[in-house]
Amino acid sequence: MTRDDGGPPRVFITGSRGQVGWELRRALAPFGVIEAHDLDTLDLLDERAAREAVRKFKPDVIINAAAYTAVDKAESDKETCRLLNTAAPAALADEAEKLGAWMVHYSTDYVFGGNKDGNGRPRTEDDAPAPANYYGETKLAGDMAIRERASKHLIFRTSWVYASRGSNFLLTMLRLFEKGGEIRVVDDQIGSPTWARYLADVTAMSLRRAMERGPRVSGVYNVTSAGSVSWFGFAGEILEYSREMFPAVDAVLLPIPSEEYPTAAARPKWSVLSADKAARVFGIRAVPRKDAARLCIDEVKERRLK
Ligand SMILES: NC(=O)c1ccc[n+]([C@@H]2O[C@H](COP(=O)([O-])OP(=O)(O)OC[C@H]3O[C@@H](n4cnc5c(N)ncnc54)[C@H](OP(=O)(O)O)[C@@H]3O)[C@@H](O)[C@H]2O)c1
Repeated sequence: MTRDDGGPPRVFITGSRGQVGWELRRALAPFGVIEAHDLDTLDLLDERAAREAVRKFKPDVIINAAAYTAVDKAESDKETCRLLNTAAPAALADEAEKLGAWMVHYSTDYVFGGNKDGNGRPRTEDDAPAPANYYGETKLAGDMAIRERASKHLIFRTSWVYASRGSNFLLTMLRLFEKGGEIRVVDDQIGSPTWARYLADVTAMSLRRAMERGPRVSGVYNVTSAGSVSWFGFAGEILEYSREMFPAVDAVLLPIPSEEYPTAAARPKWSVLSADKAARVFGIRAVPRKDAARLCIDEVKERRLK
């Protein structure tokens, strides 16, 4: 894949220290020339600085992996959350459009609220959103701003992201297992835990195809692992796959309803997304949930057991 001038594509990445952003730097490395920013090099709350950085680099692709992801804190820190999740993607999408660049962004299952539909159907990209919480509202507004502004865009809607680094449920569980004892985990919220590495690889693969096929493939694409589980069920799998890390410890998992684990932000009970569209348009195979979790835990294990 080359630019009109024969050079490699130029890729501008934000949030490069985050779970997905870090993996993007790895997955996009063979793709083109990368300029990756973290909060220290570009604060997206400074819209003018963000626009200037893009104009200076002149990317063919902007990938926005930065976000306000503290879902509970967002309920009381609303303005910062809105600026980061709605205003910043809107400004980046404006700049993408001016340059004729692709705008790539990540959305969330929290744009949906509530319970499982009568038939337990995974949610599609066309289902009417009804955000579960303020974070979900600002993410949905960000999605809409990108769709309005950038004629070439890919918005990957994902859920329950984990990685071997950063802040996530999988690493929290491993820390609790190390201590041992009784661990109470919510058993009535169902979703698809998704490995950040898989998301980054799907991004690279879809982006390549989108650049070949043009703006008609712009849109929202659900990208998650295949299969669904409750947080309690996922915790059980993490415990099973990590046992040898904590041979002397006796962690015991107890299922609880959401009501016994109150949080500032409401969570949907049913977060399962259909991955059919990404399969149809880009040929993406949803990775089996357990395979991805095992690989990620193996990586953590390698580091810890050394
Ligand atoms: N995590 C999930 O479960 C989940 C689920 C569904 C969708 N998503 C979406 O997936 C995308 C990636 O999420 P993630 O899990 O990789 O998030 P993450 O690990 O929390 O990373 C977010 C990144 O945003 C950066 N950031 C925060 N404030 C910033 C600012 N003012 N200027 C520039 N950068 C700033 C952070 O920088 P520092 O590291 O320097 O603080 C961090 O690296 C987001 O769009 C998120 O909404 C995530």
